[in-house]
Amino acid sequence: MKQVTVTIPATTANLGSGFDCLGLALGLRNEVRLTAVPDNLHITIGGEGADKLPTDETNLVYRASERLFERVGKRPAGLHIHQHNNIPVGSGLGSSAAATLGGLTAANILVDGGLTGTELLQLATEMEGHPDNVVPAFYGGLTLVVMAGARLHVEQITVPAMRVVIVLPDFDLPTAEARAALPAQVPLADAVFNIGRAGLVIRALERGDFGALALAMQDKLHQPYRVPLIPGLADASVAALEAGAAAVALSGAGPSLAAFAPEGHKRIAQAAVKAFKLAGLNGRFWILPVDNQGCQSAIINLH
Ligand code: HSE
Repeated sequence: MKQVTVTIPATTANLGSGFDCLGLALGLRNEVRLTAVPDNLHITIGGEGADKLPTDETNLVYRASERLFERVGKRPAGLHIHQHNNIPVGSGLGSSAAATLGGLTAANILVDGGLTGTELLQLATEMEGHPDNVVPAFYGGLTLVVMAGARLHVEQITVPAMRVVIVLPDFDLPTAEARAALPAQVPLADAVFNIGRAGLVIRALERGDFGALALAMQDKLHQPYRVPLIPGLADASVAALEAGAAAVALSGAGPSLAAFAPEGHKRIAQAAVKAFKLAGLNGRFWILPVDNQGCQSAIINLH
């Protein structure tokens, strides 16, 4: 029997102005373990979301594995899936990207599917609908992804060691709802506002230039429409900045907040949690290093 374990980092996508294009991998990992067994499907889940994620054929890791098996035309007789999640579900930290990528990558190794990293990322993007979480989760670090039709052009940008504050309010905001809040068209001036700033996010992060990040992470394409959906988020952003954050951004489609600072991370996190509390929401926080490893895998042949 063959067993494959893949670990996948959390990601914070968009980074303010880089909507649907930029993403940064963070040091908080989910584990996906696939074991080829003689028969049946068996799915177990531990950690974040264990009480609410499905363990039937609607499970995302299972659906991703199935997608891979269908694509390569090979499958094990039976499959045991075990997930251990550290990434909070529905938080804007790429938990569904991690499940999708974990299932695809582990299944590809399990059946010697032979798909390349680029092919896995294309499949993951088809399943996710957008590539800005799956690409940094796969490669680690800061990534820029440009879609040319179905083809992904990826740039990996090295960033110096830094820690990112993530504050997650206890509030349910499905990505589909957060996307539905966005306009179909934006004014030219808003597009121009973001283009320059998205380029500046890359330069500021690669230089560790926190001074430039405040300007760089300003955004007119998604945050103005999404922030009002999340109680206390605007106040939590102000509180984080007043506590010393250089820049703040909605993490992915939210509801969590990412704050960037050279120091004082705990103070910043506590200030944002307090602001959410005043709006009636409990919050949790993490202080996470940038992850430079991306998706990691290990194979065991069991007898
Ligand atoms: N770029 C996507 C969005 C990320 O903001 O909708 C979703 O996690």
